[in-house]
Amino acid sequence: MGISVLVVGGGGREHALAWKISQSPLVSKVYAAPGNPGIAKHAECVRLAADDVKALRDFVVANGIDLTVVGPEAPLVAGLADLLSEEGRLVCGPGRAAAQLEGSKVFMKSILRKYGIPTAGFEVFDDYDEAEQHVLTRKLPVVIKADGLAAGKGVAVAQTYEEAVTFLKEVMERRAFGAAGDRVVVEECLAGEEASYIVFTDGHKVVPLPSSQDHKRVGDDDQGPNTGGMGAYSPAPVVTPEVEGRVIREIFEPLLSGLRAEGITYRGILYAGLMIENGAPRVLEFNVRFGDPEAQPLFLRLSSDLVPLLLQCAQGKITDAKMEIDPRPAVCVVMASGGYPGRYSKGHPIEGIEEAERLEGVVVFHAGTSVDRGMLVNSGGRVLGVTAIGDTLDRAIDRAYIAVDRINWEGVYYRSDIGKKALLKGRR
Ligand code: AMP
Ligand code: GLY
Repeated sequence: MGISVLVVGGGGREHALAWKISQSPLVSKVYAAPGNPGIAKHAECVRLAADDVKALRDFVVANGIDLTVVGPEAPLVAGLADLLSEEGRLVCGPGRAAAQLEGSKVFMKSILRKYGIPTAGFEVFDDYDEAEQHVLTRKLPVVIKADGLAAGKGVAVAQTYEEAVTFLKEVMERRAFGAAGDRVVVEECLAGEEASYIVFTDGHKVVPLPSSQDHKRVGDDDQGPNTGGMGAYSPAPVVTPEVEGRVIREIFEPLLSGLRAEGITYRGILYAGLMIENGAPRVLEFNVRFGDPEAQPLFLRLSSDLVPLLLQCAQGKITDAKMEIDPRPAVCVVMASGGYPGRYSKGHPIEGIEEAERLEGVVVFHAGTSVDRGMLVNSGGRVLGVTAIGDTLDRAIDRAYIAVDRINWEGVYYRSDIGKKALLKGRR
């Protein structure tokens, strides 16, 4: 008999998790809460919201779940890992105190400053007038961040003072993100290229996944508003082996030892959002979980079992960090509902997923889908993550877009340039 695993969440990242975990010979049963129609092919979906931490704890206890793997940040910031640990249950994800790395930008930046970890210079404000005065003395563009969780909308890179003041008012006076806007971080704007670097850790040892890169803006050539992520690829050529060494030595090692000095042992997945300029990495943000959509191409490249690492993180001791990575690049193109990240219409039947998945090296992960009267329909902003692996990045991109072409619903939208930046870099 293998173990039972609960995947918390219901997006594309959680589909990729459930898909990968269900392939493990160590696992006999996978549950997902709440899951989605794609996840339902690999797991039993239970009707519990991903942020209903007490109901999730009760479910884990009642069903004797051996390992809980948490996809999104909200339940971790709300203390799900602490609740499960108190019940003696294994959970891959940090406790509430460590999850503050994502839950509070003020906490995160203060730790970075205290332990000398490279990041943008910053000041913290809890008073609107003082924040405004300070912002007006800064060089443009200036970056303003709400302290707490704001579903990816709490950051402005303001090109003008007017834009900066409007955002500051939105956060601190109109309280668009509620208590998340009690405090703001005003920071210097960094130049360079962004990349995501995700590791497994038991609080001491760091086991990195390959690098990856997200595409945050909604439009081609990085135009338009930020989204949860419109596509990703792995590896990210900007993260050379030298940069990787610096990321571990200058960022992860001092961070984990700094956290330990604060009485916090971080267990789980740790994601650094980096800005890399002339080979020097600096931290933009930390996430206390896998990236979405970065997890999709990463898991396509991970040819060994994911479960032993998840288990060792949960147990707080990484003893065997073996990981086999397919050297071929992988790409994920997010197909979204037209209008996202603003308003969009739902309920349109989706066609062509099976035809797309008949292509070699292609997996279609579900995010915002649901079943309505027997038909698969779009029900969220990001709907599918069409993910492909290929001998070269060119081929992986071609494959992903051939698959995307086979899928359709009314109002579908996707970026047509996922991976282009990496291709250009490769050719330079
Ligand atoms: P965050 O949630 O803090 O990663 O911010 C969201 C996005 O805003 C990042 O992915 C960057 O594109 C941008 N950003 C955040 N902070 C900075 C900064 N200090 N300099 C330049 N861009 C930034
Ligand atoms: N793709 C960015 C994130 O997961 O936060």
